[in-house]
Amino acid sequence: MKIKKAVFPVAGLGTRFIPATKAMAKEMLPVVDKPIIQYAVEEAFAAGIEQIVFVTGRGKKALEDHFDRSFEIEHTLKDKGKDDLLRQIQELVPKTGTIIYTRQHQPLGLGHAIWCAKDIVGDEPFAVLLADDLIQTDKPVLSEMVKKFDRLRASIAAVMEVDKDQTDKYGILDAQKVEEDIVRIDDMVEKPKPGDAPSNLAIIGRYILTPKIFDYLGKKKKGAGGEIQLTDAMKTLLKEQPIYGYKFHGKRFDCGDKAGFQMANLAFALERPNIREKLIKFIQEIQKDF
Ligand code: G1P
Repeated sequence: MKIKKAVFPVAGLGTRFIPATKAMAKEMLPVVDKPIIQYAVEEAFAAGIEQIVFVTGRGKKALEDHFDRSFEIEHTLKDKGKDDLLRQIQELVPKTGTIIYTRQHQPLGLGHAIWCAKDIVGDEPFAVLLADDLIQTDKPVLSEMVKKFDRLRASIAAVMEVDKDQTDKYGILDAQKVEEDIVRIDDMVEKPKPGDAPSNLAIIGRYILTPKIFDYLGKKKKGAGGEIQLTDAMKTLLKEQPIYGYKFHGKRFDCGDKAGFQMANLAFALERPNIREKLIKFIQEIQKDF
């Protein structure tokens, strides 16, 4: 069965970016000139996703407006003959009905956010993208995962090795290598202390899940941090179905973290021919003061 739907949990308050996020959704923070969320949405469409489910919360209006038409801007750009920009903002608006919004009424955790999309997703495998995890790669991660899913016919999460002292930030795996870039997961634990972690192989925010996951998310059992965790539901799913990890190729930036967000901006800006040279010159200049 084809992966047609992707769930984006975007209800988080973004407290780590206060004051920037006091009146603005954290997903709208720009990396170079594009909001973080747009990178993930483009990745989903490029992977063949036909419908996007945003699980939002209060204060996310800008997100809805971003993927809607703006007649005022379109009119101004047209008047000024800025056809390139006009095309860009028109292309940004998906066909009517492609984006569905639902709300997570209480901040009960990632697992609960996904569960909120249950009735929209229905009885089919679906993708989950955590927009905070921005990945720079020439092999877009979700597209690769869709290919792997077509072959393995089982749930799959993107994974990467993290520093051993950072395990308490991630879902951590006990897994065995089965192919060049695929591991089969035996067990998983959400945010273990480094001493308790079964490895340093961490889940990164791209998943393809079978709908069976909703049975376990529906139990609403609280886990790490008192939240309903996706990792815990996946751990239970493991008893019934295999789950694989895809060791993606590329650089991952944690845009939910201030340093990670700055690094993402630098890395993506260096890819732009019109700003690259200026930036390199500046970095070389300031390096003398390090
Ligand atoms: C979430 C997941 C965690 C995963 C991480 C990847 O944690 O719960 O298992 O490793 O995303 O970014 P969060 O970053 O929301 O705390």
